[in-house]
Amino acid sequence: MPCTWRTLDLWLLLISTVFLVAASTNSSLTDRPQRSFIPPAAANTSLSVRVGTKAVLSCPPITSTAVQVTTWEITLRDQPACTRAYRRDTNETRAKNCSDETISWDTRHDQNPVLQIDPVAITHDGYYRCEVATPEGNFYQGYHLQVTVPPEATLFRGKNGTVVCRAAAGRPAAQISWTPAGDCDTEEEPLGNDTVTVQSTCRWEDHPVSTVSCSVSHLTGNQSLSIDLNSEDQASSNSKILYISISIVIILIIVGSICLLKLGVCRKCKFKKIEANSVVEEEEMQPYASYTEKNNPLYDTVSKVKQSGVLQN
Ligand SMILES: *[C@@H]1O[C@H](CO)[C@@H](O)[C@H](O)[C@H]1NC(C)=O
Ligand SMILES: *[C@@H]1O[C@H](CO)[C@@H](O)[C@H](O)[C@H]1NC(C)=O
Ligand SMILES: *[C@@H]1O[C@H](CO)[C@@H](O)[C@H](O)[C@H]1NC(C)=O
Ligand SMILES: *[C@@H]1O[C@H](CO)[C@@H](O)[C@H](O)[C@H]1NC(C)=O
Ligand SMILES: *[C@@H]1O[C@H](CO)[C@@H](O)[C@H](O)[C@H]1NC(C)=O
Repeated sequence: MPCTWRTLDLWLLLISTVFLVAASTNSSLTDRPQRSFIPPAAANTSLSVRVGTKAVLSCPPITSTAVQVTTWEITLRDQPACTRAYRRDTNETRAKNCSDETISWDTRHDQNPVLQIDPVAITHDGYYRCEVATPEGNFYQGYHLQVTVPPEATLFRGKNGTVVCRAAAGRPAAQISWTPAGDCDTEEEPLGNDTVTVQSTCRWEDHPVSTVSCSVSHLTGNQSLSIDLNSEDQASSNSKILYISISIVIILIIVGSICLLKLGVCRKCKFKKIEANSVVEEEEMQPYASYTEKNNPLYDTVSKVKQSGVLQN
């Protein structure tokens, strides 16, 4: 295996030099139009890719079936350059110094190989260069890849009547602008992971405003947030009214239940009193009944008559 790869390296070098020389001599000696030669100046492009997405980097669009070897050289920050090569005739790939497994060839790379990064991370910031060796020459395409992170934009009221617009953990740093323009103080705080939090604190002392909006401009898209400065006062007064109403209702409930309890107790007291009264009445009635019975001379006489009658018989 190392032998074949050594030959591939040699072969690659040979192809590169031979065809580069051939291409330059051709162009200088003949006036016939170049077919698909891409001028080196146009071969570098800047590319912004959002973190967490899948990026696909393509090589120069060579339609010729004569593509021999495609080589990607990947230069990331703080890392040795990694080289990935694909040899078409043998359908073989090779990698040198490449430890990042999220960077790979597209699986259908046999025709026009592309490099894919999935998912893109901040560490993928760097320079990617594809070189395609064909019998017509060597073509390359370079990409300055910039990984972007959308900031999280928030707008809120700060201390002392200020309003704060914050674009948190963005990459690159976001731009914050205000409508209407105020007396603003903008700070950038770099976070450890190559993202930046931008915070703008404004006050509008000279000309009181009711609504302010902040625009967060960023490569990943612009955001606009606004805040109604009166509504919050209204909201707080509304909440005050709500609290007062709730307290009143609670007090009413407490007072009401106390009254109800008292009423219930009173009713029970009355019942007890009534019961007690009736007992007293009964007790008062009975002696009276016996008294009437005892003191009724008719009872006496009748019983006496009955008694005497019995005695007489
Ligand atoms: C591999 O990394 C070493 C440094 O660690 C560097 O000297 C070498 O050029 C790299 N090889 C390739 C093919 O980029
Ligand atoms: C080349 O190899 C890959 C696997 O490494 C395979 O998926 C692909 O079908 C092969 N292509 C050809 C033309 O043989
Ligand atoms: C904000 O209010 C504090 C007291 O609450 C005061 O000391 C400070 O000077 C104020 N800052 C500004 C910028 O007005
Ligand atoms: C960067 O760090 C900040 C705070 O530590 C975190 O909120 C944010 O998600 C991180 N961003 C990335 C892309 O790792
Ligand atoms: C975002 O806003 C900036 C100016 O603040 C503008 O140049 C840019 O075109 C806007 N981008 C988008 C995607 O709207």
